[in-house]
Amino acid sequence: MDPFKFGQVVSGKDFCPRPGLIKHVRDYIKQGQNMYVQGERRIGKTSLIYEACLHLKKYRTVYVDLFGVKSSDILAKRIVKAIISMEQKESGFFSKIFETFSHLRPSFTVDPITGLPSISLDATVKMTPDDIETVLDLIAAMQTSKKPVVVVFDEFQDILKLKDADETLAMMRSKIQFQSHIPYVFTGSLRNKMDEIFIDPESPFFKSAILVAVGPLAETSFKNFIIKRFENGGRSINANALEQVFEIAGKVSGDIQQLCSALWSISTTGDSIEQNSIPKAVELIFAREAKVYEADINIISEQQFKCLAGIARYGGKALTSSQFLMKIGIPSSASVLKALERLIQLRILLKSGDEYKFTNPFFRAWLLYKNF
Ligand SMILES: Nc1ncnc2c1ncn2[C@@H]1O[C@H](COP(=O)(O)OP(=O)(O)OP(=O)(O)O)[C@@H](O)[C@H]1O
Ligand SMILES: [Mg+2]
Repeated sequence: MDPFKFGQVVSGKDFCPRPGLIKHVRDYIKQGQNMYVQGERRIGKTSLIYEACLHLKKYRTVYVDLFGVKSSDILAKRIVKAIISMEQKESGFFSKIFETFSHLRPSFTVDPITGLPSISLDATVKMTPDDIETVLDLIAAMQTSKKPVVVVFDEFQDILKLKDADETLAMMRSKIQFQSHIPYVFTGSLRNKMDEIFIDPESPFFKSAILVAVGPLAETSFKNFIIKRFENGGRSINANALEQVFEIAGKVSGDIQQLCSALWSISTTGDSIEQNSIPKAVELIFAREAKVYEADINIISEQQFKCLAGIARYGGKALTSSQFLMKIGIPSSASVLKALERLIQLRILLKSGDEYKFTNPFFRAWLLYKNF
């Protein structure tokens, strides 16, 4: 079976150790210290927090994913569902908490097709920022010294998309600051947005949490982790090939595992994987993902496309220089800046320092492969 996991949280034996960071996070949790966890997409933020909480005995985790929240109603309901689902793991289905939210008519169902459980709440009962306040109070009331609570808000930057974002943030901050014994963990990928929340003096969350920066995994230990997995499956990978995998994936943990998974798929027991195996593995990723790339291309304008293809070919620096404009055939730097803004908004590109990069390195490689 393919031992490489990507696009999902990894823990236990699938988690390549990050002893320093894990210790930091656990120490902060024990101190009741709030933290905000920042790092590139697919680098391992959620897995880090999950793994850190998993082995903290006694602690219970309220895990709320804010991805795509559009209103305070949805946000409040996500928190309620997180509490119910935590309680359900703790003490079974008909918990007291479940009754507390009886007005929201929680129902617990198992999808007959996949067998996966889910919780739903009455859509006709609308929740407001005031309800979020009540729910946060409830979390505080659940906290005991025997069973302390950790609250994780994942993809926290998405809170800025709420119409009443300012009001909601201010309210949450005023609650959370009085819950000094409860560690709150805020994670997020979009650096600018997270900075807007935690380091902008105008923001209610200014200086309210300590930064935990998640970078690439320690290279030697991650390489050994990967080599072992190939070895356990009767395969070997040579140093140059592995080096190239890291380079193509820009050292991003999830992208590295995705490419290793493709290398696994195109190899068999007894094979030794070398650099010449890589193009075939990359083509397999293209075949699996081409529909997504095509969908992205369909929603962008011609100028945005020219910029994107230009960055794939010439790199993401000095994009307003006359050389770059000439190469991509756009006359004005203002048009390029506008296109870049949109491509960032669509999360196709991200900005790192003075460089624009593809959020998905395989999309970049595909544009070149297609000779666009
Ligand atoms: N410690 C680790 N050991 C091995 N692989 C890891 C580790 N951390 C992350 N990964 C790889 O990265 C992938 C993404 O991990 P995770 O979802 O934790 O990242 P993230 O930073 O939260 O991503 P996103 O920005 O999409 O939320 C995992 O599926 C796995 O392939
Ligand atoms: Mg995550």
